[in-house]
Amino acid sequence: MLISQLQVRNLRNLADVNLTPSRRINLLHGENGSGKTSLLEAIHLLGLGRSFRTQQYRQVIQAGTEELLVFAQIDPQGSGEQRALGISRAREGELKVRYAGESLGSAELASLMPLLVINSDTFALLEGSPSIRRQFVDWGGFHSDPGFIRLWRGFHRVLKQRNSLLKCGKIDARVRALWDAELVAFAEPLSELRAAYVEALKPVFDEILGELLKGVSVELRFSRGWDAKRSLAEVLEESFERDLRQGFSSSGPQRADLRFRADGQDAAERLSRGQKKLVVSALKLAQGALFYRQSQRACVYLIDDLPSELDERHCRQFCRFLENSANQCFITCVDPGLLSQVWEPDTPLALFRVDQGTISQSAAPGEQDER
Ligand SMILES: Nc1ncnc2c1ncn2[C@@H]1O[C@H](COP(=O)(O)OP(=O)(O)OP(=O)(O)O)[C@@H](O)[C@H]1O
Ligand SMILES: [Mg+2]
Repeated sequence: MLISQLQVRNLRNLADVNLTPSRRINLLHGENGSGKTSLLEAIHLLGLGRSFRTQQYRQVIQAGTEELLVFAQIDPQGSGEQRALGISRAREGELKVRYAGESLGSAELASLMPLLVINSDTFALLEGSPSIRRQFVDWGGFHSDPGFIRLWRGFHRVLKQRNSLLKCGKIDARVRALWDAELVAFAEPLSELRAAYVEALKPVFDEILGELLKGVSVELRFSRGWDAKRSLAEVLEESFERDLRQGFSSSGPQRADLRFRADGQDAAERLSRGQKKLVVSALKLAQGALFYRQSQRACVYLIDDLPSELDERHCRQFCRFLENSANQCFITCVDPGLLSQVWEPDTPLALFRVDQGTISQSAAPGEQDER
């Protein structure tokens, strides 16, 4: 997936900007508050129909305007074909998505545009709640198996029904048996896909972390949300009285987690801030690398403030990895000094200066050619 043209209107301080991105590295630099993260937010809205900063889309619409719009020409398979993708959202109204003249649902949109974000929230993979790590695993499940979304939706629909029955405080035994059987029918294969994804990701992650952060090994351990030695049906049966008292289901894929250990300790406790940034970045880069191996398709990376927390050597290693992958990257930074210099001369690079909501393209150092 490649974005070859991008237009953003009425999104935060971006009134009307047009960009012709490079197919590989796009560097956006500018002062605090100039609109860099807003541009990444625009691409995220285009790819997923939602912001990574807020759930309140009204905050994203530029003050004093009625509707935001993000429009792009994209090349979905990286084959040279050009298709129009546009989203708009009015203050009062629904999100509208149009792709090649047709409207598009959220799952179709997400599979069209595989997006990965690396920003200060990415630390939550180590430090945050299990739901963030489940989302991480589910990104992989969704993009690596076409059946994943049906299982995920089915499981969450049945779980909601089971929980509302538990809240009523009384369930007929036959009704319970039916719901539990249906829950298990979704939960077991969903967990299999999650576990298989983590297994496939592990060696890719080890390899990338080895390049980004020498001398630190981090072990990934997936737990599916119930006692690994037993079937979910057994566990549901056994925990039923407790679930009834609590009014919710205490075991199952809704409790799955991915844990990280560095040198035998919880990675969130053990690692320094910069080491954590490299570990969470390696996780996201591993997702893109595995996706590419499985599908031969590139991802779009949105990397906000890449240099923060990193020393020059690690910053260079991070950039080296990005330029050796097939992905299209949108990278922001305040000072373009180091980041505009680190790329090999033949790396397709576009440099954009962001200034009070306007974006202008400047030539990359030593590189005036058409890229
Ligand atoms: N709804 C809105 N309407 C108009 N302007 C807005 C709106 N929401 C935010 N802004 C402004 O848009 C600007 C863009 O902020 P953004 O977060 O994109 O900056 P940035 O370049 O990423 O800065 P930093 O380097 O500090 O991260 C800010 O000045 C902010 O005050
Ligand atoms: Mg920012």
